[in-house]
Amino acid sequence: MDIEKVNSMDFGEFVDVFGNVVERCPLIAAAVRSQRPFSDLEDLEQHFFAFTDALPQSGQEGVLRCHPDLAGRELQRGELSAESQREQSAAGLTSLGAAERLWLAELNAQYRARFGFPFVPAARLSDRAAVPREPARRLHCPPAQELSTALGEVKKIGRRRLADLLGSHAAEP
Ligand code: GUN
Repeated sequence: MDIEKVNSMDFGEFVDVFGNVVERCPLIAAAVRSQRPFSDLEDLEQHFFAFTDALPQSGQEGVLRCHPDLAGRELQRGELSAESQREQSAAGLTSLGAAERLWLAELNAQYRARFGFPFVPAARLSDRAAVPREPARRLHCPPAQELSTALGEVKKIGRRRLADLLGSHAAEP
């Protein structure tokens, strides 16, 4: 898909296609569309990031809270978004043993209790061994620093999702 195609999408199509660039936050895609035309993928990406950066702290925490827990209930129930399923699969989180799942659930719970939002790593960029180590390390970070780290991860995830969307369609006739 090229940028002209993106710029020509009507509202419904744009939100359908880009509504999960930020997990379960189609409102962000809806707001970004009003900034068109976009010059290229990077420009489109910057609008997603600028919107997230401009949110008040409560909004940024809300964006993080829209993410499902890693290897959590939604994954067990088959209720993840296609993107989250792909990312958690690629990080090996769909094939954890019972003990690893319990350990990660405990770390997720401690992380959420401390910061008020779920642990959000750019899971697809990590490996199975690294993902559980990260929450243990980040649990000790000051809350303001952790909010900023977590939003940085949301951007990495969004960048990857956007590249997949624009790249995968480019291969089509
Ligand atoms: N990292 C990449 N995808 C996800 C997700 O769906 N949830 C969380 N918590 N982290 C992620």
